[in-house]
Amino acid sequence: MCKVSMDTIVSLCKRRGFIFPSSEIYGGLGSTWDYGPLGVELKRNVKQAWWKSVVHLREDIEGLDAAILMHPSTWKASGHIDGFTDALVDCRSCKKRFRVDHLPGDGDNRKCPECKADIDLKSNPPRLFNLMLKTFLGPVEDEGAVTYLRPETAQGIFVNFLNVVNSRSRKLPFGVAQIGKSFRNEITPGNFTFRTREFEQMEIEYFVKPEKSENAYKRWVADRFQWYQDLGIKKDRLRLRVHADDELAHYASGCTDIEYNFPFGWSELEGIANRGDFDLSQHAKVSGKDLTYFDQLANKRYLPHVVEPSGGVDRALLAFLVDAYREEEVKGAKRVVLGLNKSLSPFKIAVLPLLKKNSDIVEYAKKISSGLKKYFVVKYDDTASIGKLYRRQDEIGTLYCVTVDVQSLEDKMVTIRDRDTMAQDRISIDKLDEYFKDKLG
Ligand code: GAP
Repeated sequence: MCKVSMDTIVSLCKRRGFIFPSSEIYGGLGSTWDYGPLGVELKRNVKQAWWKSVVHLREDIEGLDAAILMHPSTWKASGHIDGFTDALVDCRSCKKRFRVDHLPGDGDNRKCPECKADIDLKSNPPRLFNLMLKTFLGPVEDEGAVTYLRPETAQGIFVNFLNVVNSRSRKLPFGVAQIGKSFRNEITPGNFTFRTREFEQMEIEYFVKPEKSENAYKRWVADRFQWYQDLGIKKDRLRLRVHADDELAHYASGCTDIEYNFPFGWSELEGIANRGDFDLSQHAKVSGKDLTYFDQLANKRYLPHVVEPSGGVDRALLAFLVDAYREEEVKGAKRVVLGLNKSLSPFKIAVLPLLKKNSDIVEYAKKISSGLKKYFVVKYDDTASIGKLYRRQDEIGTLYCVTVDVQSLEDKMVTIRDRDTMAQDRISIDKLDEYFKDKLG
């Protein structure tokens, strides 16, 4: 099994147009990234695969797309204004700032991870730093205009709980799913797109009768663990990490992380938490609105409990990239393949003319490409020799290459090359749609 380095992944992403450093011509902006032509397709596919599995293939989940800017009271109620903090300390030698939980050492005696100077937390006590990004709404930049870029998408779901219940006549159990950008002023971003200040989340709030929450929590842990494997991640590079009691928020009765073994070590892709009724009860208290659910069968009102599977789009995408990367030797040369699952590959098919100087072949290949585009994501490419074009498509994960040659003009057949096996099939052009519908459907 090929254990790839992060440098290799970062370089492939830049070279092939998956991910670029943001604002690069100005020297970049600390740990922000832009998804390029290939990255944007891959990201859409990751989100689409998630949406399909949790919304379209289920009867019990509704979708939502709430605003990024929310009433500031939202963040009072959720606890983010008072509690969404990291404890930081400045190293007095190198003047750099660190999260206390990232400092080596014990108790009050720590070491600076950069310059190795001693840091005594008694004489140099940590200060709390809120991770929310602040902004101002309207023309006056005073305290009354302060609002925040959301640090999680979840709260947009909680504040719409009754809207969804009422507009969709929902009964428990049911969930609401949302994908969207979140922002955190992370102190130690890094590892490429793993920890950034602007990222996308895929979150579900699943509302259940209180006594059913433990079962729902267990089912969600299993379902979400399976999702990554269904999309091709190797099982031995995934694990579940159950939070110890002292890691849990006071209101939570359980939390399990799904971790992936990245080149920089085991790290969290997603957390599934059994959150009790904390969020709804906080919003009810701060807003003064009754957010209870009326259970007709039991003839009583109560606040549902919530199970929250919360994952990151960027982290899932990075894991899919790392996991799919492989190097092979073919006839003495290195072949790089992104063996992405068929639903994730940015381009499903590439149509390539064997001789770009032959205008009849080129025209015919372009015609085949536009015919296939009605059903699949297809790219026509004639910018290099066929050998180079194959290697390029392998490296970006394209599942099939269709090659048009001189013979095709006469027998109306093309060669189809499979990314993984490199096996070639000669297929009649009028069977192409059917062939690919069978392979990709
Ligand atoms: N609503 C719960 C919540 O937001 P979280 O563990 O803070 O929980 C959920 O975040 C997921 O969002 C994480 O598992 C991770 O995939 C993603 N995430 C969180 N912070 C991130 C960051 N700074 N950069 C990239 N992804 C992040």
